[in-house]
Amino acid sequence: MAEGNTARLHHAGKDYDLAVLSPTAGPDVVDIRKLYSEAGVFTYDPGFTSTASCDSTITYIDGDKGELWYRGYPIEQLAAQSHYLEVCYLLLYGELPTPDQLVDFETRITRHTMVHEQMHYFFRGFRRDSHPMATMVGVVGAMSAFYHDSIDINDPVQREIASIRLIAKVPTIAAMAYKYSLGQPFVYPRNELDYASNFLHMCFSVPAEPYNVDPALARAMDRIFTLHADHEQNASTSTVRLAGSSGANPFACIAAGIACLWGPAHGGANQACLEMLRQIGSVDRIPEFIARAKDKNDPFRLMGFGHRVYKNFDPRAKVMKESADEVLDLMGVHNNPTLQVAKELEKIAREDEYFVSKKLYPNVDFYSGIILEAMGFPTSMFTPIFALSRTVGWISQWKEMIADPQNKIGRPRQLYIGAPRRDYKPLDAR
Ligand code: CMC
Repeated sequence: MAEGNTARLHHAGKDYDLAVLSPTAGPDVVDIRKLYSEAGVFTYDPGFTSTASCDSTITYIDGDKGELWYRGYPIEQLAAQSHYLEVCYLLLYGELPTPDQLVDFETRITRHTMVHEQMHYFFRGFRRDSHPMATMVGVVGAMSAFYHDSIDINDPVQREIASIRLIAKVPTIAAMAYKYSLGQPFVYPRNELDYASNFLHMCFSVPAEPYNVDPALARAMDRIFTLHADHEQNASTSTVRLAGSSGANPFACIAAGIACLWGPAHGGANQACLEMLRQIGSVDRIPEFIARAKDKNDPFRLMGFGHRVYKNFDPRAKVMKESADEVLDLMGVHNNPTLQVAKELEKIAREDEYFVSKKLYPNVDFYSGIILEAMGFPTSMFTPIFALSRTVGWISQWKEMIADPQNKIGRPRQLYIGAPRRDYKPLDAR
């Protein structure tokens, strides 16, 4: 980050020179940290559309070009040539692992996949029909009660153990939330399986019969994990950073991230998108839904379309679309009506003036639900799968923030537009 030129602000008859910081990639950033102490004014940016909240070396997005890099490596290359645990290592430590480092990392993750046995009883406090995201928010938050030997954020060793525990155990918790909702017994992890195969095993096997994980499905699952692993300062990641900035423990911070991710404008969009595609049902009903999406008086939006940062095709959606074809083929699902509606909807939306002018392209959630449904997951598991994939991104960003000597508690200011000062009136005088 180089300090290059300056930007000048003229306010109340005075000039203020603000440093302009140049990133490795992306637009320059005006440094306003001393603005309030020097000029006595705040900046106003609801939704943070023009505000960089931190510096980071982890992920870069070029929204106009539709590019996404993890530690400099394009997502397409990682999705095609790498695998999720290698990507986890890359996100956490900044470089691709050597063969020895990878074996060591995979071993550490694998050895932490079981959860404390008492957690099984903890699950039983939830209603069977709870949404698995509701269960996950609670159980991941409760990890700080089960693993309180790794909540001292000032100890780098404890931070490392907490990171490994989260990446290893969140899939187990997600699978347990699923099994609990079905009324089936929890399935213990199996250490000889790779990360994605183990997750499929914990979700789909039952003690009564053997279950063999299809390697092609495991590969598709692994690719979904990779595509969701990090996405710079999105809402849930910013939530994790904000929670962590107060010194809260990592399990509490990740639970906060999961809660934020659940919203339909964020990670909840994958469930909402598949439900929308089913609701549309057939290609001939698409115009009706396109018209609703354009109607300012109708709150309906095309789920799986649009993005705060991407004003081009979301590169993750491209990979996801290819994967959807592969998985449906593999599962023998032909002429899937949901996929037909999705493909036609995408075609129409990409030619329609409203979507073209607003640069609304399909995002990662547009095709992921179709793949997950073909794999046998119910819609309620789509967002938990996003959450388990994103855990490494949240953890990497949290670790980066804690290790940063400039770290301060996050505390935005406001533009107060409420009542001016007024005196209290007793009840009988109102
Ligand atoms: N359907 C119809 N119109 C839309 C859509 C949509 N999906 N998305 C944005 N617009 C319109 C919006 O009405 C607005 O129009 P106008 O300028 O006339 O008021 C314009 O496009 C800009 O929208 P915005 O809400 O100001 O944009 P934003 O950056 O605040 O919101 C978004 C981004 C992702 C929340 C939004 O596009 C959306 O709600 N999409 C559907 C939900 C979705 O798919 N979310 C997943 C995002 S990717 C996964 C993740 O990162 O979580």
